[in-house]
Amino acid sequence: MKLIRVKNYEEMSEKAAALLGETVAKKGDSVLGLATGSTPVGMYQRLADAHNAGKLNLSGVCGVNLDEYIGIGGDHELSYRYFMSKNFYSLFGFDESRAHIPNGLAADLPKECDRYDALIEKLGGIDLQVLGIGRNGHIGFNEPDEVFLKNTHIAELDEDTRAANARFFERPADVPSKALTMGIGAIMAAKEILLLVSGSEKAQALKDAMTGDIDPRLPASILQLHPNVTVIADEAALQK
Ligand code: F6R
Repeated sequence: MKLIRVKNYEEMSEKAAALLGETVAKKGDSVLGLATGSTPVGMYQRLADAHNAGKLNLSGVCGVNLDEYIGIGGDHELSYRYFMSKNFYSLFGFDESRAHIPNGLAADLPKECDRYDALIEKLGGIDLQVLGIGRNGHIGFNEPDEVFLKNTHIAELDEDTRAANARFFERPADVPSKALTMGIGAIMAAKEILLLVSGSEKAQALKDAMTGDIDPRLPASILQLHPNVTVIADEAALQK
């Protein structure tokens, strides 16, 4: 794992946008694995600015998101589809038919998981996967478990994950308890992975992921086995 140390969130976002931009400059039709949450928002803003300034052309890429809550539709303001539209795609007028996110309202959820894996395969796999990390070491919604789950699956969200995400909801009880998430297989098959980490609350998880045992109880630790991972972490996240 290659580590890039940066001062703060702003620098992390700047560096991440520059690296992702390099990938897109080399391959205009890159398949980008994308994350939601607070971590990538600054990167998305910078990428959209670069596109709008004519310095980068994002119109040929495909977005494939990691996860979506179950029970919430794509037009619900707390859904991850809505999040992506608001924080990235609408900022540069992206054709959202090129943006893929699991459907949390699918009537047959196991079938939706299979559809999502087949879609990623049909797109030729992921060129660059952007990841954040949970305080408990989750990536996507691959939560601490006894095994690493390979395929897209239904995830039972940890109490810690629900507590961390409660900030987006009016009442903590409203945070969904289940989500659909890309599995470890598609993430690890990505040609390149960019793990973004900011803030002291992620420091222990980051240290364990980078230097601890490879253990499904700390899902991000599997990234040690990937040949092309770049971690961009700020001072607060590197304090352990
Ligand atoms: C989101 C996702 C999650 C987040 C993680 C960190 O699509 O897959 O793994 O990356 O929960 O969230 P933030 O960035 O809000 O701290």
